[in-house]
Amino acid sequence: MKPTILTLLFIAFSTSVIFAQGIRGDSKAGQAVYERQCLRCHGAQLDGNGPDSQDLIVQPADLRSQISRSKTDWELLVAISNGVLFSPMHGFRGKLTDEQMLDVLSYIRFMSPPDITS
Ligand code: HEC
Repeated sequence: MKPTILTLLFIAFSTSVIFAQGIRGDSKAGQAVYERQCLRCHGAQLDGNGPDSQDLIVQPADLRSQISRSKTDWELLVAISNGVLFSPMHGFRGKLTDEQMLDVLSYIRFMSPPDITS
């Protein structure tokens, strides 16, 4: 049977769905990672008021702020993976798997949706 436009469209659609799921991460798994690794600084509300934040000279980013929300997934992922220079935010590459970093990113995006207006 010759592939019809419909089957080709179906293949294109289903692979894009698989791809999207692959890069989106699992926010539920991300929550567990967040609570273990990030909450002490960024806080349960993601507002940067975690229990350890008082002791820091550079305050943790408020992940609910417009500044953070208007950053791209990529920018946030680079901060998580590589850390932020001259701040207590160290990189998590090697400590977390790529998948865990995507999971925690999707948890952040779930709690604090991206601001696409700016
Ligand atoms: C030791 C405290 C600490 C821990 C633990 C920590 N962070 Fe941070 N984080 C910071 C600080 C401080 C900054 C702000 C740096 C700056 O912008 O000056 C920051 C910045 C960020 C940013 C950049 C925000 C922006 O708008 O650019 C992201 C994203 C982030 N953290 C995510 C995470 C995630 C996810 C985890 C856990 C896997 C985590 N952080 C763990 C202290 C921490």
